[in-house]
Amino acid sequence: MKAVVIAAHGGPDQLQLREVERPEPGPGEVRVDLHAASLNHLDIWVRRGVEGVRYPLPLIPGCDGAGVVAALGAGVDDLELGTRVLLAPGIACGHCETCSAGRDNECRHYGILGEHRNGTNAEAIVVPRANAIPIPQALAFEDAAALPLAFLTAWHMAVARARIQPGDDVLVHAGASGVGSCAIQIARSLRARVITTVGSEAKANLVRSLGAEHVILYRETDFADAVRDLTEKRGVDVILDHVGADTWEGNVRSLTRGGRLVVCGSTSGHLVTANLRFLFFKNLAFLGSTMGSRSELLRVLRLVERGVLRPVVDRILPLDEVARAHELLESRRALGKLVLQIR
Ligand SMILES: NC(=O)c1ccc[n+]([C@@H]2O[C@H](COP(=O)([O-])OP(=O)(O)OC[C@H]3O[C@@H](n4cnc5c(N)ncnc54)[C@H](OP(=O)(O)O)[C@@H]3O)[C@@H](O)[C@H]2O)c1
Ligand SMILES: [Zn+2]
Repeated sequence: MKAVVIAAHGGPDQLQLREVERPEPGPGEVRVDLHAASLNHLDIWVRRGVEGVRYPLPLIPGCDGAGVVAALGAGVDDLELGTRVLLAPGIACGHCETCSAGRDNECRHYGILGEHRNGTNAEAIVVPRANAIPIPQALAFEDAAALPLAFLTAWHMAVARARIQPGDDVLVHAGASGVGSCAIQIARSLRARVITTVGSEAKANLVRSLGAEHVILYRETDFADAVRDLTEKRGVDVILDHVGADTWEGNVRSLTRGGRLVVCGSTSGHLVTANLRFLFFKNLAFLGSTMGSRSELLRVLRLVERGVLRPVVDRILPLDEVARAHELLESRRALGKLVLQIR
């Protein structure tokens, strides 16, 4: 089968389209013939390499995908061949104390497709049965592939970690990013007022269409000053962030008393200096967040089916343009998600 392979870390030229052996499902697994995959920023970290992290190279990248069930491993008797599915991007052990509590994303053995094992930038993939989630006929493969990782992450941040309440003021950073475009919609569905930051006018138009009430072009206006004005000096109840170092100080300034800052990433840098006096005097909560549970993904899907949440697909490129797709994402030119069409 055709697959994108990263054999060594580096630039987009390290994404090689190769002929590789098609995987066959073992017991409890299924093979999915992929129709579409979507990019996440994680694909860029995996391709570039991250100091102190070892990725299992050579590796097929891609955390998100959708396609049809094409082969069943021994013991799988509850899925029909040909079923249209999307892939849950995370794989946990399924039987430890944490998994048993439904917090599979906190499992010690948790791994992500395209990071810890071969991913979706290929004509086929083998995953545990539990990772193949049937989708409705009306959901296109390209849209289904754009959903899982970004929506799951944003949902866990907004619901499980920040516990957004109706009427909360919520600041979503990088609102046109994969995670940000989901976070805006989720916060709105929870009846929060959404303020968001973006780096360009084109991104501002997109986030307005997703329901953001106030958009801050942070290159022109200091976002913490803008938040102060927009909230009449009160500050916001919740901040959903993955920018990291560049937004840290402004975030601490922007939180109201009792505010919650949830961080799932650190694209601009991961080392910051914290002033603990703000933390305790203002009763703040600094919360980390990674991925989300399988049940949260199913909840997201339900809301997509009902039209409450929708994938934001910027454009669809053929699989052999994967290097161009990486360049677009890396240079911050994507408006929402980039999708690769595989068949
Ligand atoms: N822990 C988890 O489970 C988890 C899950 C998903 C994502 N993440 C992390 O969250 C971050 C966002 O992921 P994503 O897939 O949503 O990313 P994305 O779609 O590539 O969007 C990233 C956006 O962040 C903004 N940005 C701010 N500072 C930046 C910088 N120094 N370099 C590049 N972009 C910068 C840019 O928007 P503007 O042009 O508006 O500035 C950019 O478009 C990544 O670091 C990712 O690894 C973590
Ligand atoms: Zn486990």
